[in-house]
Amino acid sequence: MCEQLEIVITGVSRGLGRALTEWFAARGHSVSGAARSEAVIRALKKQPGPAEAFSVLDILDRPGVEAWAASLRPPDLLICNAGVLHPDTPFVDLDAEQFDRQLDVNVKGTANVLRAVLPGMIQQGRGTVVVFTSGAGIRGYPEISGYCASKHALEGLCKSLALEIPEGMAVIPYQPGVIQTEMLLGHYGERAREYPLPQEWVESAGPALLALGPEQNGQSLRLELGG
Ligand SMILES: NC(=O)c1ccc[n+]([C@@H]2O[C@H](COP(=O)([O-])OP(=O)(O)OC[C@H]3O[C@@H](n4cnc5c(N)ncnc54)[C@H](OP(=O)(O)O)[C@@H]3O)[C@@H](O)[C@H]2O)c1
Repeated sequence: MCEQLEIVITGVSRGLGRALTEWFAARGHSVSGAARSEAVIRALKKQPGPAEAFSVLDILDRPGVEAWAASLRPPDLLICNAGVLHPDTPFVDLDAEQFDRQLDVNVKGTANVLRAVLPGMIQQGRGTVVVFTSGAGIRGYPEISGYCASKHALEGLCKSLALEIPEGMAVIPYQPGVIQTEMLLGHYGERAREYPLPQEWVESAGPALLALGPEQNGQSLRLELGG
């Protein structure tokens, strides 16, 4: 890939979003991103590249998301990565607040980002949107019902948008695989250490994401690690 792309990523403070940010930037792409953790965003602003590329943002803050999107150039690639996973708990014992937060951040927060960023992409008539879903967006898993519900919703949202966007664009619900991040450590405990670190994962994920385009519009895809 020699062309320099405009790439926007949510959830850049750690895990998959942070690894992608560093991997794309190291290959000359122009990366902008956001997350809530102020200290990490401050550190990202000090790296080579424009400081305004990184913003402290909660994707639930709709006016904040709109202002952030207005400050961006419409991206060639938007990666909706930011997400949360509640502690393993049977549904009947899960607080309503915990359940609601999954839908709020993962679904409504992602929708806020899409609502704010997608019109500029549609206006320029090109661009690919990748939304990180999960195996939990395709099938059920015990004790993470809120997360499963939210990721199933994202699959549906992407498939609807894929039918609305102009030809030549793509909206793709994407399962990134199983990666040793804070999220996975919270869910799997020590067993998470069997899985690749984000810095290892990104060597497969980075090229795979750059290769996505209109041919994959609306398809539920899963990263095959090492592929
Ligand atoms: N790791 C896996 O094995 C795996 C598997 C399947 C799918 N996924 C999906 O991949 C994505 C990334 O997961 P991860 O493992 O990298 O998780 P992670 O390490 O917990 O990172 C999550 C990222 O999302 C950001 N975030 C969370 N809530 C936010 C909010 N309200 N506003 C803005 N940013 C927010 C966090 O930043 P702040 O806390 O700084 O805001 C952080 O940068 C998620 O959508 C997850 O569901 C991961």
